Amino acid sequence: MSCCIILAIIALLFFLMCILIGVYLFRNNFRIMYFDLTKFFNGREIPEKVGSYYDEWNDRYLETYGDTIQSYRTEDLNELHAYIAKSAGLKDGMRILDAGCGFGGPAMYFAEHHDIQIEALTISQKQMDILKHNIDIAKLTDKISAKCGDFHDLDKIYNKESFDAVLFLESFGHAWNPKKLLKAAAGVLKTGSYIYIKDYFKKDMPDDRLQKKLIKMGLKNMDDIYRYNTPDLYHTIYLMRKLNFELRSLKIPDFSIEKWDKNKVIQSFHQKNNIAFYNNKDHLFDQKNGRFIVDPYEMIFVKR
Ligand SMILES: C[S@@+](CC[C@H](N)C(=O)[O-])C[C@H]1O[C@@H](n2cnc3c(N)ncnc32)[C@H](O)[C@@H]1O
Repeated sequence: MSCCIILAIIALLFFLMCILIGVYLFRNNFRIMYFDLTKFFNGREIPEKVGSYYDEWNDRYLETYGDTIQSYRTEDLNELHAYIAKSAGLKDGMRILDAGCGFGGPAMYFAEHHDIQIEALTISQKQMDILKHNIDIAKLTDKISAKCGDFHDLDKIYNKESFDAVLFLESFGHAWNPKKLLKAAAGVLKTGSYIYIKDYFKKDMPDDRLQKKLIKMGLKNMDDIYRYNTPDLYHTIYLMRKLNFELRSLKIPDFSIEKWDKNKVIQSFHQKNNIAFYNNKDHLFDQKNGRFIVDPYEMIFVKR
């Protein structure tokens, strides 16, 4: 009899524990620390979904963003490209990989202004078609080669240790599995060469519970809308160190405030396409401390 009671108590505790875990997962959008369980289970389909998303939205991006799909930008795109080329340490003679190249605005600029070889990769078939067409017109076929493929498979698409730099220009955040992606990028880099990332990363969470909740909601909406998996800065550095990379530089893009477009392009894109991150709860945000859900960063990791 007492044995039955003990078993019943254990079963009840187990049941309660399952409910608590379920509630925790539900409230945290099925994330545990850095792991998004929904992406873990559906991960392999994600690159295709990102590709279809861009195939469908390319015209809208072209209309507002032009041939460079970067939201943290200068008003004059040439200045942004020149800034990135300098910041990413591009030098004549290099062979670089532009992973997640979009319509190729940056790659075309780099090829026109530097004596370098560029492999440009995108998951969107339509972006690749547009880029190939632009490469032909600009007579840059001997400098840029464009492909359609998944950057999680870089090490299957390109030769081992064949690049001097791998660039992720607001594309890294699309990775459903950053660990797999960085490992694949490490495989195609020569020793002493590097990964350059420019992207948005999650902002540190404030202590205030309401602000925290709003930021989490904003991040989830942003990820859903843009098919993103907004990366965590500390987790990215941790992963790179595990792969034996050295953090060479880390900064917020520091082009001058006069040159910055002050989010005009992204705001115009949101207006035209009815995009809202906060489900019309913007007024609840603590304007000073909680308003922005992400911070832009640039970083260089050198392969040891
Ligand atoms: C925000 S756009 C940035 C484009 C480009 N870097 C630029 O500066 O204009 C993100 C790009 O990442 C690419 N991308 C996303 N997931 C990818 C994947 N799994 N493999 C290859 N490219 C991917 C998209 O196709 C798109 O071109």
